[in-house]
Amino acid sequence: MKSVVFLGGGRIASALCAGLRLAGYRAPIIVHGRDRQKLRELERRHGVTAEPDLQRAVAQAGILIIAVRPASVASLLKGIGPIRRPLTAVSLAAGIPLKNLRAHLGPPVRWARAMPSPACRSGRGLTALTFGPNATQRFRTGVKSLFARVGPVLEVPESKFDAFTVTYSCSHGYHALAALAEAGEKVGLDRKTALAAAAHALADGIIAWREGGLSLEDLLHEAATPGGIAAAVMSAMDKRGYRQAVQAGLRAGIVRARANSKS
Ligand SMILES: NC(=O)c1ccc[n+]([C@@H]2O[C@H](COP(=O)([O-])OP(=O)(O)OC[C@H]3O[C@@H](n4cnc5c(N)ncnc54)[C@H](OP(=O)(O)O)[C@@H]3O)[C@@H](O)[C@H]2O)c1
Repeated sequence: MKSVVFLGGGRIASALCAGLRLAGYRAPIIVHGRDRQKLRELERRHGVTAEPDLQRAVAQAGILIIAVRPASVASLLKGIGPIRRPLTAVSLAAGIPLKNLRAHLGPPVRWARAMPSPACRSGRGLTALTFGPNATQRFRTGVKSLFARVGPVLEVPESKFDAFTVTYSCSHGYHALAALAEAGEKVGLDRKTALAAAAHALADGIIAWREGGLSLEDLLHEAATPGGIAAAVMSAMDKRGYRQAVQAGLRAGIVRARANSKS
Protein backbone atom coordinates (compact mmCIF):
# COMPACT_ATOMS: atom_id res chain seq x y z
CA MET A 1 0.00 0.00 0.00
CA LYS A 2 1.33 3.45 -0.88
CA SER A 3 1.88 5.63 2.16
CA VAL A 4 1.45 9.20 3.24
CA VAL A 5 5.05 10.39 3.29
CA PHE A 6 6.17 13.53 5.11
CA LEU A 7 9.42 15.13 4.04
CA GLY A 8 10.38 16.97 7.21
CA GLY A 9 9.45 15.74 10.66
CA GLY A 10 9.09 19.00 12.58
CA ARG A 11 6.24 20.77 14.31
CA ILE A 12 3.50 20.65 11.70
CA ALA A 13 4.35 17.11 10.54
CA SER A 14 4.15 15.96 14.13
CA ALA A 15 0.80 17.72 14.68
CA LEU A 16 -0.63 16.17 11.50
CA CYS A 17 0.59 12.67 12.39
CA ALA A 18 -0.98 13.05 15.84
CA GLY A 19 -4.26 14.34 14.37
CA LEU A 20 -4.43 11.58 11.76
CA ARG A 21 -3.82 8.86 14.33
CA LEU A 22 -6.35 10.46 16.70
CA ALA A 23 -8.87 10.35 13.86
CA GLY A 24 -8.28 6.60 13.51
CA TYR A 25 -6.12 6.82 10.38
CA ARG A 26 -4.32 3.48 10.43
CA ALA A 27 -2.64 3.46 7.01
CA PRO A 28 1.15 3.66 6.93
CA ILE A 29 2.73 7.07 7.51
CA ILE A 30 6.41 7.52 6.67
CA VAL A 31 8.45 10.47 7.85
CA HIS A 32 11.74 11.45 6.28
CA GLY A 33 13.89 13.81 8.33
CA ARG A 34 17.46 14.55 9.30
CA ASP A 35 17.24 14.37 13.04
CA ARG A 36 17.21 10.73 14.23
CA GLN A 37 16.11 11.72 17.71
CA LYS A 38 13.03 13.58 16.38
CA LEU A 39 12.22 10.68 14.08
CA ARG A 40 12.41 8.16 16.91
CA GLU A 41 10.06 10.34 18.94
CA LEU A 42 7.58 10.45 16.05
CA GLU A 43 7.78 6.67 15.69
CA ARG A 44 7.19 6.18 19.38
CA ARG A 45 4.34 8.65 19.69
CA HIS A 46 2.44 8.23 16.45
CA GLY A 47 3.30 4.82 15.06
CA VAL A 48 4.94 6.24 11.95
CA THR A 49 7.93 4.74 10.16
CA ALA A 50 11.08 6.81 9.94
CA GLU A 51 12.90 6.72 6.61
CA PRO A 52 16.21 8.57 6.65
CA ASP A 53 16.79 8.00 2.93
CA LEU A 54 15.02 10.62 0.80
CA GLN A 55 14.68 8.56 -2.38
CA ARG A 56 13.41 5.52 -0.52
CA ALA A 57 10.85 7.71 1.29
CA VAL A 58 9.61 9.25 -1.98
CA ALA A 59 9.40 5.85 -3.67
CA GLN A 60 6.86 4.71 -1.06
CA ALA A 61 4.62 7.78 -1.37
CA GLY A 62 1.00 7.74 -2.45
CA ILE A 63 0.76 11.30 -1.10
CA LEU A 64 3.97 13.23 -0.58
CA ILE A 65 3.77 16.07 1.93
CA ILE A 66 6.48 18.71 1.90
CA ALA A 67 6.86 19.80 5.52
CA VAL A 68 10.21 21.55 5.62
CA ARG A 69 10.62 25.28 6.13
CA PRO A 70 10.18 27.43 3.02
CA ALA A 71 13.89 28.17 2.72
CA SER A 72 14.66 24.42 2.56
CA VAL A 73 12.07 23.49 -0.08
CA ALA A 74 14.16 24.15 -3.19
CA SER A 75 17.16 22.10 -2.07
CA LEU A 76 14.93 19.29 -0.80
CA LEU A 77 13.08 19.06 -4.14
CA LYS A 78 16.35 19.18 -6.08
CA GLY A 79 17.57 16.25 -3.99
CA ILE A 80 14.57 14.14 -5.01
CA GLY A 81 15.47 14.14 -8.69
CA PRO A 82 13.06 13.23 -11.50
CA ILE A 83 9.86 11.35 -10.69
CA ARG A 84 8.46 9.20 -13.48
CA ARG A 85 5.15 8.06 -12.05
CA PRO A 86 1.96 9.98 -11.21
CA LEU A 87 2.31 11.29 -7.68
CA THR A 88 0.23 13.61 -5.51
CA ALA A 89 2.45 16.15 -3.78
CA VAL A 90 1.18 18.66 -1.21
CA SER A 91 3.36 21.51 -0.02
CA LEU A 92 2.74 23.02 3.40
CA ALA A 93 5.44 25.64 2.86
CA ALA A 94 4.04 29.12 3.49
CA GLY A 95 4.37 31.53 0.62
CA ILE A 96 5.83 29.19 -2.00
CA PRO A 97 3.58 29.23 -5.07
CA LEU A 98 2.53 26.23 -7.10
CA LYS A 99 4.49 27.46 -10.11
CA ASN A 100 7.76 27.31 -8.12
CA LEU A 101 6.94 23.81 -6.93
CA ARG A 102 6.13 22.66 -10.47
CA ALA A 103 9.37 24.17 -11.72
CA HIS A 104 11.23 21.74 -9.45
CA LEU A 105 9.03 18.70 -9.98
CA GLY A 106 6.73 18.87 -12.98
CA PRO A 107 4.26 16.32 -14.39
CA PRO A 108 3.56 13.51 -13.72
CA VAL A 109 3.70 15.05 -10.20
CA ARG A 110 0.41 16.82 -9.34
CA TRP A 111 0.77 19.65 -6.84
CA ALA A 112 -1.52 21.12 -4.22
CA ARG A 113 -0.74 23.51 -1.40
CA ALA A 114 -2.17 23.04 2.06
CA MET A 115 -2.09 25.35 5.03
CA PRO A 116 -2.98 23.28 8.09
CA SER A 117 -2.90 24.47 11.66
CA PRO A 118 -1.14 22.80 14.58
CA ALA A 119 -4.60 22.60 16.15
CA CYS A 120 -5.10 19.61 13.82
CA ARG A 121 -3.33 17.68 16.59
CA SER A 122 -6.67 17.60 18.41
CA GLY A 123 -8.85 17.35 15.31
CA ARG A 124 -9.71 21.05 15.41
CA GLY A 125 -7.42 22.27 12.70
CA LEU A 126 -8.88 24.20 9.80
CA THR A 127 -6.89 23.48 6.62
CA ALA A 128 -6.85 25.69 3.55
CA LEU A 129 -6.12 23.97 0.24
CA THR A 130 -5.34 25.37 -3.15
CA PHE A 131 -5.00 23.62 -6.49
CA GLY A 132 -3.92 24.61 -9.94
CA PRO A 133 -6.61 25.33 -12.57
CA ASN A 134 -6.17 21.92 -14.21
CA ALA A 135 -6.53 19.86 -11.04
CA THR A 136 -8.97 17.02 -11.58
CA GLN A 137 -11.86 16.39 -9.22
CA ARG A 138 -10.35 13.04 -8.26
CA PHE A 139 -7.05 14.66 -7.29
CA ARG A 140 -8.82 17.39 -5.26
CA THR A 141 -10.96 14.83 -3.48
CA GLY A 142 -7.94 12.68 -2.61
CA VAL A 143 -6.10 15.61 -1.00
CA LYS A 144 -9.23 16.96 0.71
CA SER A 145 -10.14 13.64 2.22
CA LEU A 146 -6.75 13.34 3.92
CA PHE A 147 -6.86 16.78 5.54
CA ALA A 148 -10.57 16.49 6.34
CA ARG A 149 -9.63 13.84 8.88
CA VAL A 150 -8.05 16.51 11.10
CA GLY A 151 -10.69 19.23 10.85
CA PRO A 152 -12.65 21.29 8.36
CA VAL A 153 -11.14 21.95 4.94
CA LEU A 154 -11.56 25.08 2.91
CA GLU A 155 -10.54 25.70 -0.70
CA VAL A 156 -8.95 29.12 -1.12
CA PRO A 157 -7.75 30.55 -4.45
CA GLU A 158 -3.97 30.75 -4.59
CA SER A 159 -4.11 34.55 -4.98
CA LYS A 160 -5.66 34.71 -1.46
CA PHE A 161 -3.58 32.00 0.14
CA ASP A 162 -1.08 34.29 1.86
CA ALA A 163 -3.90 36.47 3.21
CA PHE A 164 -5.61 33.40 4.59
CA THR A 165 -2.35 32.08 6.04
CA VAL A 166 -1.66 35.24 8.05
CA THR A 167 -5.25 35.61 9.23
CA TYR A 168 -6.12 32.17 10.46
CA SER A 169 -3.06 31.10 12.43
CA CYS A 170 -4.00 29.83 15.87
CA SER A 171 -0.98 31.83 17.05
CA HIS A 172 -3.44 34.77 17.09
CA GLY A 173 -5.40 32.98 19.78
CA TYR A 174 -2.29 32.19 21.85
CA HIS A 175 -0.93 35.71 21.33
CA ALA A 176 -4.21 37.33 22.37
CA LEU A 177 -4.49 34.99 25.35
CA ALA A 178 -0.95 35.85 26.48
CA ALA A 179 -1.53 39.61 26.06
CA LEU A 180 -4.92 39.60 27.81
CA ALA A 181 -3.73 37.43 30.70
CA GLU A 182 -0.66 39.63 31.14
CA ALA A 183 -2.89 42.72 31.23
CA GLY A 184 -5.13 40.99 33.78
CA GLU A 185 -2.10 40.36 35.99
CA LYS A 186 -1.06 44.00 35.66
CA VAL A 187 -4.43 45.13 37.04
CA GLY A 188 -4.14 42.79 40.02
CA LEU A 189 -5.08 39.17 39.18
CA ASP A 190 -2.82 36.23 39.97
CA ARG A 191 -1.51 34.37 36.89
CA LYS A 192 -3.89 31.41 37.14
CA THR A 193 -7.00 33.54 37.52
CA ALA A 194 -5.84 35.93 34.79
CA LEU A 195 -5.39 33.04 32.38
CA ALA A 196 -8.79 31.57 33.27
CA ALA A 197 -10.49 34.94 32.77
CA ALA A 198 -8.68 35.63 29.49
CA ALA A 199 -9.33 32.11 28.12
CA HIS A 200 -13.04 32.46 28.94
CA ALA A 201 -13.18 35.90 27.32
CA LEU A 202 -11.62 34.69 24.07
CA ALA A 203 -12.64 31.05 23.67
CA ASP A 204 -16.16 31.16 25.09
CA GLY A 205 -16.89 34.45 23.32
CA ILE A 206 -15.91 32.91 20.01
CA ILE A 207 -17.83 29.69 20.66
CA ALA A 208 -20.89 31.81 21.43
CA TRP A 209 -20.49 33.50 18.04
CA ARG A 210 -19.86 30.22 16.22
CA GLU A 211 -22.68 28.28 17.79
CA GLY A 212 -25.23 30.81 18.93
CA GLY A 213 -26.61 32.05 15.61
CA LEU A 214 -26.23 35.75 16.52
CA SER A 215 -24.20 38.18 14.45
CA LEU A 216 -20.91 39.54 15.75
CA GLU A 217 -22.48 43.01 15.94
CA ASP A 218 -25.35 41.68 18.06
CA LEU A 219 -22.97 39.86 20.40
CA LEU A 220 -20.77 42.95 20.79
CA HIS A 221 -23.87 45.01 21.49
CA GLU A 222 -24.99 42.51 24.12
CA ALA A 223 -21.57 42.21 25.84
CA ALA A 224 -20.64 45.90 25.82
CA THR A 225 -23.51 48.01 27.18
CA PRO A 226 -23.09 51.59 25.90
CA GLY A 227 -21.46 53.61 28.68
CA GLY A 228 -20.45 50.44 30.53
CA ILE A 229 -17.11 48.93 31.47
CA ALA A 230 -16.59 46.63 28.45
CA ALA A 231 -17.39 49.54 26.11
CA ALA A 232 -14.83 51.73 27.91
CA VAL A 233 -12.21 48.99 27.64
CA MET A 234 -12.79 48.47 23.89
CA SER A 235 -12.84 52.18 23.18
CA ALA A 236 -9.53 52.70 25.03
CA MET A 237 -7.98 49.76 23.16
CA ASP A 238 -9.16 51.09 19.80
CA LYS A 239 -7.81 54.58 20.61
CA ARG A 240 -4.41 53.03 21.32
CA GLY A 241 -4.40 51.44 17.87
CA TYR A 242 -5.66 47.89 18.57
CA ARG A 243 -7.05 47.42 15.06
CA GLN A 244 -4.06 49.09 13.40
CA ALA A 245 -1.71 46.81 15.34
CA VAL A 246 -3.58 43.72 14.11
CA GLN A 247 -3.60 45.02 10.54
CA ALA A 248 0.12 45.84 10.68
CA GLY A 249 0.77 42.32 11.95
CA LEU A 250 -1.04 40.74 9.01
CA ARG A 251 0.76 43.00 6.53
CA ALA A 252 4.11 41.96 8.03
CA GLY A 253 3.09 38.31 7.60
CA ILE A 254 2.23 38.88 3.96
CA VAL A 255 5.59 40.56 3.35
CA ARG A 256 7.29 37.50 4.89
CA ALA A 257 5.21 35.11 2.76
CA ARG A 258 6.14 37.04 -0.40
CA ALA A 259 9.80 36.83 0.55
CA ASN A 260 9.36 33.04 0.84
CA SER A 261 8.04 32.95 -2.72
CA LYS A 262 11.39 34.29 -3.92
CA SER A 263 13.45 31.77 -1.99
N1 LIG B 1 4.20 25.17 12.30
C1 LIG B 1 3.04 25.52 11.78
O1 LIG B 1 2.12 25.89 12.49
C2 LIG B 1 2.80 25.44 10.29
C3 LIG B 1 1.48 25.53 9.81
C4 LIG B 1 1.26 25.41 8.45
C5 LIG B 1 2.31 25.26 7.58
N2 LIG B 1 3.58 25.22 8.07
C6 LIG B 1 4.68 25.04 7.10
O2 LIG B 1 5.23 23.77 7.33
C7 LIG B 1 6.62 23.80 7.09
C8 LIG B 1 7.34 23.23 8.31
O3 LIG B 1 7.09 24.08 9.41
P1 LIG B 1 7.42 23.58 10.89
O4 LIG B 1 6.90 24.64 11.79
O5 LIG B 1 6.99 22.19 11.05
O6 LIG B 1 9.01 23.67 10.85
P2 LIG B 1 10.04 22.84 11.72
O7 LIG B 1 9.47 22.49 13.04
O8 LIG B 1 11.33 23.56 11.65
O9 LIG B 1 10.16 21.47 10.90
C9 LIG B 1 10.83 21.37 9.70
C10 LIG B 1 11.55 20.05 9.70
O10 LIG B 1 12.12 19.83 8.43
C11 LIG B 1 13.39 19.23 8.61
N3 LIG B 1 14.20 19.47 7.43
C12 LIG B 1 14.70 20.62 6.97
N4 LIG B 1 15.39 20.41 5.83
C13 LIG B 1 15.30 19.10 5.58
C14 LIG B 1 15.82 18.26 4.56
N5 LIG B 1 16.52 18.74 3.54
N6 LIG B 1 15.54 16.94 4.61
C15 LIG B 1 14.81 16.43 5.63
N7 LIG B 1 14.30 17.17 6.63
C16 LIG B 1 14.55 18.48 6.60
C17 LIG B 1 13.93 19.91 9.84
O11 LIG B 1 14.96 19.12 10.37
P3 LIG B 1 16.03 19.71 11.39
O12 LIG B 1 15.37 19.59 12.74
O13 LIG B 1 17.20 18.79 11.22
O14 LIG B 1 16.32 21.12 10.98
C18 LIG B 1 12.70 19.98 10.72
O15 LIG B 1 12.53 18.82 11.50
C19 LIG B 1 7.00 25.23 6.78
O16 LIG B 1 7.20 25.36 5.40
C20 LIG B 1 5.81 26.04 7.24
O17 LIG B 1 5.58 27.17 6.42
C21 LIG B 1 3.86 25.28 9.39
